[in-house]
Amino acid sequence: MTGTNAPLRVAMIGYAFMGRAHSQAWHTAPRFFDLARRPETAVLVGRSSASVTEAAHRLGWAEAATDWREVVARDDIDLVDICTPGDTHAEIAIAALEAGKHVLVEKPMANTLAEAESMAAAARAAAAAGVRAMVGFTYRRVPAVRLARELVAEGRIGEVRQVRAQYLQDWLADAEAPLSWRLDKEKAGSGALGDIGAHIVDLTHFITGETVTGVSGTLDTFVNERPVAESFSGLHGSGGTERGPVTVDDAAVFFGRLTGGAPAVFEASRVAWGRKNAMRIEISGSLGSLAFDFEEMNVLHLFDATEESRTAGFRRILVTEPDHPYIEHWWPAGHGLGYEHGFTHQVVDLVTAIADGTQPEPSFDDGLAVQRVLDAVERSAANHSTYTPLGD
Ligand SMILES: NC(=O)c1ccc[n+]([C@@H]2O[C@H](COP(=O)([O-])OP(=O)(O)OC[C@H]3O[C@@H](n4cnc5c(N)ncnc54)[C@H](O)[C@@H]3O)[C@@H](O)[C@H]2O)c1
Repeated sequence: MTGTNAPLRVAMIGYAFMGRAHSQAWHTAPRFFDLARRPETAVLVGRSSASVTEAAHRLGWAEAATDWREVVARDDIDLVDICTPGDTHAEIAIAALEAGKHVLVEKPMANTLAEAESMAAAARAAAAAGVRAMVGFTYRRVPAVRLARELVAEGRIGEVRQVRAQYLQDWLADAEAPLSWRLDKEKAGSGALGDIGAHIVDLTHFITGETVTGVSGTLDTFVNERPVAESFSGLHGSGGTERGPVTVDDAAVFFGRLTGGAPAVFEASRVAWGRKNAMRIEISGSLGSLAFDFEEMNVLHLFDATEESRTAGFRRILVTEPDHPYIEHWWPAGHGLGYEHGFTHQVVDLVTAIADGTQPEPSFDDGLAVQRVLDAVERSAANHSTYTPLGD
């Protein structure tokens, strides 16, 4: 069934951290929002038959499978949701698009610029046939972030003069925190840069409506060897006595110039003790400033410089009113949303775009724009932090 109101039959690959978040979103979205097409959690794909069968049962998927190639070729699948490490994204996404399936792929879109370019080309070709592709930059769906974008677009802070964006975590600050695929360049592409730096680049692009045109950056690895993991869940695990090399950065610090000329300062770190998921952005404009910190995700701070100075100050906006983005579908004012709601909003926006026949955002071209920045930071860092314009 492929009519406009037909169910949207989803196959998801990977079922750990993001797989759990996406599973919940696929189930919750149609319960709280009116969707033109109802998602069906049809097939969950993994590598081990026993584990994926158990996960399908636990996470609410009708079927389990172990061969993603077979699944993406099936006629009864409409959308492929990719929740695996970066080394698999390009191959799976391109195969799915060529098979006529809509695709949601987790960030960073790819491990290399060349892969991202191939993915964006495949998405453009597929779009001509009405097939949609989107990248999982979930933080775009946080109501306070969306409000920030609206205020910038409305001119509330005037012309954007400066951006400071940080994404700080501390799960690698302990030198004994074990290795995982996120510390392996082959699997992850890069470290803090691609894992969390990608988010703040996309966030900057999204809120300002501008893109980074060139960068100067450094990449640092403070712990070069760690215990090999014996078990892992989310970002944390336990290691044994065997040790292995870390082949990615622990922290990325870079300067970027935006299309409108504003300087932007970015810092991504997985060794910032005490900071758990501090994704922050502060924008100084000619008429005011905006500030957001994900550790207080229901709040946006606005300084309006047109107000009289005696009472002016950063205003703490609790972004839980019914007229704030997405909120009317949730709880009464002040009751607050959490991490998982961004994933539900992501499903809502994707399904709505598919049903309306429009391009969901962030598109693969948006993902490519971020990948160009990551690539330029790596080239700059390898060349004494020389200012490096982005490749076309
Ligand atoms: N949007 C966000 O905020 C956000 C947050 C965390 C992770 N991510 C991204 O999501 C993706 C997955 O990360 P995660 O944290 O869920 O990782 P994870 O290690 O928790 O889960 C990875 C899953 O992929 C499966 N897998 C690995 N290699 C595979 C292969 N070759 N074929 C099939 N399955 C395979 C694993 O068995 C596991 O189920 C990454 O791209 C990551 O950067 C995004």
